Amino acid sequence: MSLTFCNVHFTKQPQRVVYVSGALMKSLKLTGKKNIRLRLGKDAIPTMIKPIKRAGNHLFLATGVKSAIKVPKSGGIYLRNLQNDEVQLGPLVGVLTDGPASSNQPFGSRTGFIKQLLREGSNKCYIFAFMPRDINWQQEQVYGYFLTAGGKFERKMVPLPDVVYNRLPSRRAETSPYINQLRERFMRKKIPYFNWSFFNKSDIYRLLENDGAANRYVPETHSNPSSEKMREMLDHHHFVYYKPSAGSLGHGIYRLTYLPKKGYFARYRKGGKNVLLRFTTFESLMRMLRSRHGQGLQNYIVQQGIRLIEIEGCPIDFRFHMHKNGSNQWIVVGIGAKKAGRGSVTTHLKNGGALLTPGQALGRVFGGRADEVLQRAKSTAIKLAESLEIQHRHLLGEIGFDLGIDQDEDIWMFEANAKPGRSIFRHPSLRAEGKASIEHILEHCLYLSKFRRRDEM
Ligand SMILES: Nc1ncnc2c1ncn2[C@@H]1O[C@H](COP(=O)(O)OP(=O)(O)O)[C@@H](O)[C@H]1O
Ligand SMILES: [Mg+2]
Repeated sequence: MSLTFCNVHFTKQPQRVVYVSGALMKSLKLTGKKNIRLRLGKDAIPTMIKPIKRAGNHLFLATGVKSAIKVPKSGGIYLRNLQNDEVQLGPLVGVLTDGPASSNQPFGSRTGFIKQLLREGSNKCYIFAFMPRDINWQQEQVYGYFLTAGGKFERKMVPLPDVVYNRLPSRRAETSPYINQLRERFMRKKIPYFNWSFFNKSDIYRLLENDGAANRYVPETHSNPSSEKMREMLDHHHFVYYKPSAGSLGHGIYRLTYLPKKGYFARYRKGGKNVLLRFTTFESLMRMLRSRHGQGLQNYIVQQGIRLIEIEGCPIDFRFHMHKNGSNQWIVVGIGAKKAGRGSVTTHLKNGGALLTPGQALGRVFGGRADEVLQRAKSTAIKLAESLEIQHRHLLGEIGFDLGIDQDEDIWMFEANAKPGRSIFRHPSLRAEGKASIEHILEHCLYLSKFRRRDEM
């Protein structure tokens, strides 16, 4: 297989003919050939080819070809030389997401990120965003949102893509039969689809249990704990987190403490405020939790509380934003340190938290040894990502870990996010990492669609 970057032009002829410059004929090994199959995404058509005299790598597609295979635009793109005289343009990359749309934001609050991805990606591939309803499975086509040079969305019909980057926003919708079927269909058509779905906390802890070397970074956790188990965990650890398995943004999380002479304490967030309640008995604590959540508690997990390092009396933890690179290896691309708001159970910015660079945070806690601790945390994050990927058995290309470091310098994993938010990249010192994150997503799309040079792998 060879890979060549070329310049695509459109010409007005109605026939199915492709004019190929001499240099390109040679590098695609087409010299003397009269017919090829031209592929875009999952569609391919037979077409005549004719050599033309022109310096450089140029491909002129007649209207008959352009419209049959739905080439979205002219300009620079990769050409892949496959077996049996087939030449593939691309890759054609689809970013799967959804509304709710507002007037000029078809993808709601994610629109900015999608635009950034499309803007950067347009230099290397044909990239578009789409929603589940934009796929026509009968015709094997997608009505995608492309970005114009002027930064506006433009709808175009294209074949099914070579790779799908899943950014569906709704956890609930993603477990629906409709989306399950959609994923299965992509899988059956051998279209790489990453990431598979949102993670569920208890599923992730369970997966990591199969790998002792990774599991030592997970605090002791029990899913859907009985009252007995809750009491045992509080007796043993004196401090636990009680959190919804499919939760996010800190919603529904309790920090429970047991002080033998003083009773039980529950800290949580309610109506935008931090609440601290004291209970004299374990039963009264459980009654409060049941009255607030009822059957919902079946989807909770209880987890050993970790005494995090602190700045000014506020705990800090870290978001490690991980990507697979173009050679299929896990890389730590960005790290944000999150300092909890005063009295807050979590470090979320929405709950009064503050974002720092890891250097700022670790420097204040560990002084000259900060870098050593950071390196250790980075290699732990890579180990966790590798382990999770092996156990998960579906394609993973991006993970956002919430990692804590305790007062003994031990590293702990609280959560793995399959569709990590991008708020850390708003920090002025983390903008370059934000850009690198976008580049890694694109590189990984090139890798999965096999549009990578071998010598780069
Ligand atoms: N076991 C724990 N010990 C100490 N702090 C924890 C623990 N679990 C969660 N936290 C704190 O709460 C935050 C949110 O927990 P997380 O598991 O990431 O849930 P969410 O899905 O709501 O983000 C973490 O970033 C961390 O600051
Ligand atoms: Mg989290």
